[in-house]
Order: sequence, then structure tokens, then C-alpha cells
Amino acid sequence: MPTPPDGPSALGSPARRSEGHAKVTGAARYAAEHTPPDCAYAWPVPATIVRGRVTSVDIAAATAAPGVIGVLTPYDAPRLGTADDPTLHLLQDLSVPHRGWYVALAVADTPEGARAAAARVRVTYETDPHDVTLSADHPGVYTPAEANGGHPAHRRQGDPDAAFAAAPVRIDRAYAVPPLHNHPMEPHSATAAWDAERHHLTVHDSSQGAGAVRAALAALLNLAEEDITVVSEHVGGGFGSKGTPRPHVVLAAMASRHYGRPVKLALPRAHLPATVGHRAPTLHRIRLGARTDGTLTSLTHEVTTHTSRVREFVEQAAVPARIMYAVPDMRTTHRVVALDVPTPSWMRAPGEAPGMYALESAMDELADALGVDPIELRIRNEPRTEPDSGHPFSSRHLVECLREGAERFGWARCREPRRDGPYLIGSGVAAATYPVLVMPSTARAHARSDGRYLVEVNATDIGTGARTVLAQVAADALRVPLDRVTVAIGHTGLPAAPLAGGSSGTASWGWAVHDACTALTARLERHHGALPPGGLTASADTTQSAKQKSPYSRHAFGAHFAEVRVDTITGEVRVRRMLGVFAAGRILNPLTARSQFTGGMVMGIGMALTEHSTMDPQFGDFTESDLAAYHVPAHADVPAIEAHWIDEHDKHLNPMGSKGIGEIGIVGTAAAVANAFHHATGCRLRELPLTPDRVL
Ligand code: MOS
Repeated sequence: MPTPPDGPSALGSPARRSEGHAKVTGAARYAAEHTPPDCAYAWPVPATIVRGRVTSVDIAAATAAPGVIGVLTPYDAPRLGTADDPTLHLLQDLSVPHRGWYVALAVADTPEGARAAAARVRVTYETDPHDVTLSADHPGVYTPAEANGGHPAHRRQGDPDAAFAAAPVRIDRAYAVPPLHNHPMEPHSATAAWDAERHHLTVHDSSQGAGAVRAALAALLNLAEEDITVVSEHVGGGFGSKGTPRPHVVLAAMASRHYGRPVKLALPRAHLPATVGHRAPTLHRIRLGARTDGTLTSLTHEVTTHTSRVREFVEQAAVPARIMYAVPDMRTTHRVVALDVPTPSWMRAPGEAPGMYALESAMDELADALGVDPIELRIRNEPRTEPDSGHPFSSRHLVECLREGAERFGWARCREPRRDGPYLIGSGVAAATYPVLVMPSTARAHARSDGRYLVEVNATDIGTGARTVLAQVAADALRVPLDRVTVAIGHTGLPAAPLAGGSSGTASWGWAVHDACTALTARLERHHGALPPGGLTASADTTQSAKQKSPYSRHAFGAHFAEVRVDTITGEVRVRRMLGVFAAGRILNPLTARSQFTGGMVMGIGMALTEHSTMDPQFGDFTESDLAAYHVPAHADVPAIEAHWIDEHDKHLNPMGSKGIGEIGIVGTAAAVANAFHHATGCRLRELPLTPDRVL
């Protein structure tokens, strides 16, 4: 790694967020905070049946109110082109595939006017019987071709059934994770302005990737991509739910072009569960066979989940079992049933988060059955190569994470559960993993005559610190101090780049930024520092390098430790302290990285203890649709929480040597908490979350 001549490398330093001041002073503007002149406001009307079709829409009362511009219905809404994602084919036909599906859009001069108009739209329906209830033996269950991420739905090695039958120690357990909701701080919103004269659509959208939003709008509105600008400059979280274009932006753009006015649409939080995707519930059956010394001989992980009738999405929860432990005979399977439910999608660590809850709970049960320390059990089953592919790991320091975590947590001192008055206190451990993903990106670097550098890439900072770390990558490659670099992101006018998703952003954008800045440095050297008027520019495109298939199995690993206190009178479970140690390549900014790790761990505490959504069989929708009912951790729920990492050097990743860190923090956390609950109480709950009604 090149080092600036005048000081330590910018990369690896705890640089503060470059936009932090703008955010805390309110100067940073989010999608709904852009208000073009003459802006109108839209409010969608959700279907109030579960399954059937619209038979009439009466808009007379809605449009009679003052300030109402109009109401779009499936009968008269502009016809859309075809996008890859059928959840975006809004107001195009009369069918209702799930409760909450949008059946009209009210547009008015004010947000209050639009909301009131939406409430006055009268929709009649014809109702069909519905089915929203997931069960492992549902007659509609099928094996999909693929699970999310392109993973094969089914993998088998050897004969796991025979190996299980022959194993002296056997664990055969079922675990369940309920539907979960993303609920970013900033609900999904967009401001769209169609300029008929310029034939140009400008959209401010709360998105994890403006490029994909532009592509979808172009396809749906039959426009060329050059006719559309999408800006996602500041985004208040997404956790996957803003990873692909969502209905709000399509409706805002459709209404703006139709009515000839800018249109703003900010979804109320209660619409999010049915509109922006959710983590599908997963039912797990895990069978582990082992010798008496703890060596695994058989592993079967079967997952059953739901999808909607609109689009197939299969939570890939059995995938992490393919890489975790050395097992000769193994089967991992996904099964899915299409129900009359909202379409599930990505939520932080799709697959790994629920899958590792189940697998790491089962490993704890096996350790218990064997009377072996759970850390020791994992170490005994450490594989030499990736069990599924047989490829060598580019780097794998799970054992080091477990050992360092045990040391820091004081694992040896808390092996005996304690009682303190009405409280039972126990501790648990679980492993974490997340794949190394990288996508092609382009970037441009510009040396200006004032001695400053401008780096341009259509990356998105969803609160992670992406903007800051990209400046660090640039400063490092340019060998200049960090304060000489300005980074422009979040705009489709910038060089094309992939979304902020799959913990791949820094690797993908950073690689292109590194290459552009390295090329610029070489050009500057050829000019001996004498800049031509107008400066110098260099571009990079990582399509070749980032797409190259690695001969290595590349994953980040980690270990979570949790201490819980169970109130034997109220049934309340509280995490007293939590500690994670991660091996995720080079940590490029310890300040923002720590925040990513602990942020994931906090979300894991929610998954373990409070976050729960119920698909009501009669009502046919989630009953917990806002933060009053869907309980995410608040400050009082988050105890002493620590994230540490191993100094990991891996040459097989990208020029920065980094692995993704955005999602691994939520992987395994819930298992560590549930294992601690078992340690404290001697009871094993196999369904999340561990709420008092289940505990008592
Ligand atoms: Mo993340 S769930 O890949 O945006």
C-alpha cells in the first residue's frame, strides 16, 4: 500500500464522517427534503382485502375536496412498460395479490390534503379465499431453482441420512424465525420532477443505489436513461429495503409526468411492511450427527420459507451451513411456498442472519449433549478447505476470533450460571460469517489546479460512512493528505457504480476509486507535478478485475459473546453485555467500522429479544406495522457492547485488502443471546424472539 510521504496512511485511520456536520446541523438534505417550486404531494391507497380484485374505485368524494389535484386508479393510471420487478407494476391491473397492495394514488397541493383524499377514495372488491400461513408441510411447498443470491437451493455431499443414523450423538431440532421488518430511520420517500420542455425527469430518492432506480424508471416510463437523473445524496438507512427501486419512486414519477407538477411521496411507516419487503419467516430443521469426541459426521439443514404470489424471493438461510464446519456428509435444502403475502426481500444479512441463528443454536445443543465447551466444539470442527466447494479459504480466522473473544469476554470465568435474587445470569457464544462480495464499478479522479482532488463515483452512503472511506482510499492511492480529497457520490450523472448492498460497497467502489487514483498519480508523475490548465483526469472500470472468479472461498468470520439476565418473575430477558470479534480483512476506518459492527449487533439484539411480526391468518397481513408494535432496540436495551477485530491480511480480495463489514454484525448474534438464555435457565427456546410470554 503506498504511504503519503508526509504522514501515516489515510487508509486505516479513524477519519470522522465527512458529511457528519452537515447531517447533525440539518444541512444535509434527504429525498423528502427537496421541494421544487409548485410541488404536489402524493399518498397511496392500500388494498383492504387480502386476495381478489378491484371492482370499482369511486373518487368523487376524494376529488371534491379543495386542493386535490387528482386520484390515479388502475382504470386510468398511465400504462407502464415492463420492469424486471413485478412489484413495480403499479395500478396496471385490477388484481390484488396481498393486503396493502396499492390500488390508487391521491395527489394534492399539500401532504395533509393528499392523505385526506386517499382516505376518501372508495374501493370495492371481489374477494377470493386467501392463504397466508406458512407451515413446513404446506401442500404448496416446492423446491425453487435457486435461493436468493443465485445459490443452488439444494446441495448434498455423501449420505447424511446414513451418517446421522450411525452417529453415536445426535441432535434433531426445529427452530423458527418470525417475519422481520427493515424499518430504516428514514422511511422510503421520493421527490420526482418531470420537465416536459427538457424531456427530463429528476428524482430525489431514498435508495441504496440510484443507478438501478434510473434503469427501472426508464423501463417503466419508456424513457431513455439519459432522460432521467436520480439523486440519492443522503440516505437514512435501508438495511436492504432500499436495495432495489420500490413502489414509492415509481408512483411519484408516474404522477409527476401525468399531472405536470413535481410530486413528493413519503411513505408513512405503517406502509413499509407491506410495501418495501421484509425478512421472510424461516422454519428450520437441523440434524447434527457427531462422534463422542465432538467430531461432526453428518449435517442436515432444511429451511422452509414463504414468498409472495407476485415475485419469488427465497431467503437463503441454509447457505452458511455449507461453509462453516468440516462435515463429510451434508445436505442443505431450501423449500418455499407462495402465499398471499407481501413480497419478501433483502434484510441485513439475508440468509446468514436466520440461518446462523439455527445452526449456531444447534451447535450449542450438541456441545451441551457432549459436555464439551461450545468454543472447543467449533474448533474441533474447523475445516481445512471450504466444505461445499473444496476451495481453499483466502483467509479464515474463526478460531482466532473465538479465542480472542473468549479472552476479552472472560469466558472461562462465566462458565457457571449464576443466580442473583430473582435473576438468572448466563452467557453464550456463537460464530458469525458473511461472504465477500464485489461488483464491477467505474470511477473518475480529477486533479485540480488548486491542489485539490475530486473523486466521482455513483456510490451511496446509507449512513455507513462510505463517502468518508472512499476519500481515504483515494488519498491513499494519490499519496496526499485526506483533506485534499473531495468525494462526489449519490448521483446518476457520476460514473456508474453498483448499489450499497451485500456488504460489497466499499470493496466495489473502492476498487474503482483506487484504480482511478492510481492512474491519476501515474499521469501526474509524467507531468512532473506541473498541471495543464483545467487539471488532469483519470478514469477506471473494474469490470474485468472484479468479475474474475477467485480460486478461493472468500468469507469474513466472527464470534459473538453475550451475557444475559433473565427475570424469573417477569420473564424479561436483558442482554447485560455483548462482545464481538471479527476477521474481515483490513479495517479501513476503525471509527466507522466499529459503528457498522455494533450496529449489526444491536439489530441482532432486536432479532433475539423483541423484533417480531405476526402474519395474521384472518386479517392476512402483518399486525405489527409501526414502531409502537414492532420493537427495535432502544438505548436502554443496548448494554455494554464491544466490537473488536483480528488484524487480517488477505491478498486475494481487492487492492485495499478489505472484506465487507455491514452485515456480519447481525449474523450469529441472536444465537449467542439464545445460547446465553439456555445457559442461564436450562431451558431451550427454539423460536425467536425470547419475549416474556414465551419465557414464563
Ligand atoms: Mo443488504 S440486506 O445486502 O442491503
